[in-house]
Amino acid sequence: MQPITIAIDGYSSCGKSTLARALAKKLNYVFIDSGAMYRGVTLFAIENECIINGIVDKEKLTQKLEQIQLRFASVEEDERKHLFLNGKDVEKQIRSMEVAGYVSEIATIREVREKLVLSQREMGKNGGVVMDGRDIGSVVFPDAELKLFVTASPEVRAERRFKELTEQGRNVTREEVLVNLMERDRIDTSRKESPLIQVKDAIVLDNTNMTPEQQLEFALQKVHELA
Ligand code: C5P
Repeated sequence: MQPITIAIDGYSSCGKSTLARALAKKLNYVFIDSGAMYRGVTLFAIENECIINGIVDKEKLTQKLEQIQLRFASVEEDERKHLFLNGKDVEKQIRSMEVAGYVSEIATIREVREKLVLSQREMGKNGGVVMDGRDIGSVVFPDAELKLFVTASPEVRAERRFKELTEQGRNVTREEVLVNLMERDRIDTSRKESPLIQVKDAIVLDNTNMTPEQQLEFALQKVHELA
């Protein structure tokens, strides 16, 4: 079977990246977490005074976009494929609640999306890629051979994310996590530029009651059905 492009979209904290990573490993494909790139731009905005007193200065950030260089570590360098922002490993910082609090607003900026979509297309141009995000099946790779739309109940998503964050030693409450993910979903589904939508040719995967292994099995089955 020729290497294909797999697009995984869906709501916040649905385990899209976990599934995409496992699928890419199994198929020996490239895994790309597009959300990490939006988080990288957000961290840049925080560190470069493009957010003052909680207000995002979109014009200032747009002017500075050329200064932002993002790259993922290769699997050989680091199996988790950490994100590097201007040469620095920022994997830990981009997962903070501060970044989570601004990222969806930053992701509404057209110029930010244009920059990131270009680079995502470049990374996936040879196929053999699993990319997860919000607009992968609709905008980045509308011709992807397999599109999955992942969803789960907000409470289950918040619980999973809360567990992940507290395991990393972060000081957050369940309530904070739930509010953040519902607010991100609200912004992501209602924005003008490339909103999160379920495209017609996407297969829905509601993983509320599924283990990561069951999800991987489901996705692999869909890949094999294409052969
Ligand atoms: O996937 P993750 O939750 O890390 O993404 C963080 C945020 O980046 C999302 O809430 C969304 O606002 C934005 N995003 C996006 N388009 C993508 C990936 C992420 O707008 N393809």
